[in-house]
Amino acid sequence: MSDPSPLSPAGDRHFDGLADKFAGSLYGGPRGALRLALLDRLLPEMLALDGQPVLDVGGGLGQLSAWFAHRGHDVTLLEPARDMLERARFELEGLSVRYVEAPLQELPTRADGPWPLIACHAVLEWMSDPRAALEMLAGRLACGGQLSLMVFNRDALRFSNVVKGNLQKALDDRLEGTGKRQRLTPISPLSHEQVVGWSRECGLSLQAVAGVRVFHDYLRQPPTSEVDWQRLVALEQRYCRSEPHWRLGRYLLYTFVAGDGHVPIKEPAR
Ligand SMILES: C[S@@+](CC[C@H](N)C(=O)[O-])C[C@H]1O[C@@H](n2cnc3c(N)ncnc32)[C@H](O)[C@@H]1O
Repeated sequence: MSDPSPLSPAGDRHFDGLADKFAGSLYGGPRGALRLALLDRLLPEMLALDGQPVLDVGGGLGQLSAWFAHRGHDVTLLEPARDMLERARFELEGLSVRYVEAPLQELPTRADGPWPLIACHAVLEWMSDPRAALEMLAGRLACGGQLSLMVFNRDALRFSNVVKGNLQKALDDRLEGTGKRQRLTPISPLSHEQVVGWSRECGLSLQAVAGVRVFHDYLRQPPTSEVDWQRLVALEQRYCRSEPHWRLGRYLLYTFVAGDGHVPIKEPAR
């Protein structure tokens, strides 16, 4: 008999049973370190932060919640996979974080808001209907509230497949994973055009965009010394908000504001 589907009734890939794999393969290595180093630079530039409460949707192991909690925000971490949530609770002990075991679809009854700030990083690509998810997030924002959205970039996935020699797969545009088994290839990688179009339909104004890992995933050789690692981090930081580089970041990081509002965000640092 085959294994039961790991997809949720809504068709999403909750990370039940993936906590070890996710912790090891992403945050245990350079890709995770780079993501955190870039977010540490980008979030204060791209968001207007004043200690407001934050809802972290699909918060996983809690790295982003920890970042906000360490800066004085009260954080609500919503996550449907129990083992991810338990691990986050353990790692973040002592910080001002409330934990909600639920999927995004249950936000109206579990953490409705309105929220001044919602973060949803690397979650939409694991959902069968990411447009509906974006609409759900937009509906939970206070007027003028900010959404920090990070999505897995379909165009970067195509590019890296070609670089790796997966030419037929790229020609067939067979880029998405199935969500079955233990693979960490997202089921709904998104294009910038999709995000921009859907966000407009949901009444969100785009404030800023950046690419996360614009060079790292295309390197022929990973850095072998600390000096080269620091050079790579400096390059990623310098070009993550510049044309044309941000466009091929493995992830795209956006700040949206609910309504026609505008928040004073900072120009990219050099
Ligand atoms: C790639 S991880 C990202 C975790 C974290 N946001 C981060 O950036 O490290 C994707 C997370 O989305 C969660 N997820 C999947 N479907 C979801 C849903 N319907 N509602 C909320 N979270 C969901 C998974 O359980 C998993 O923890």
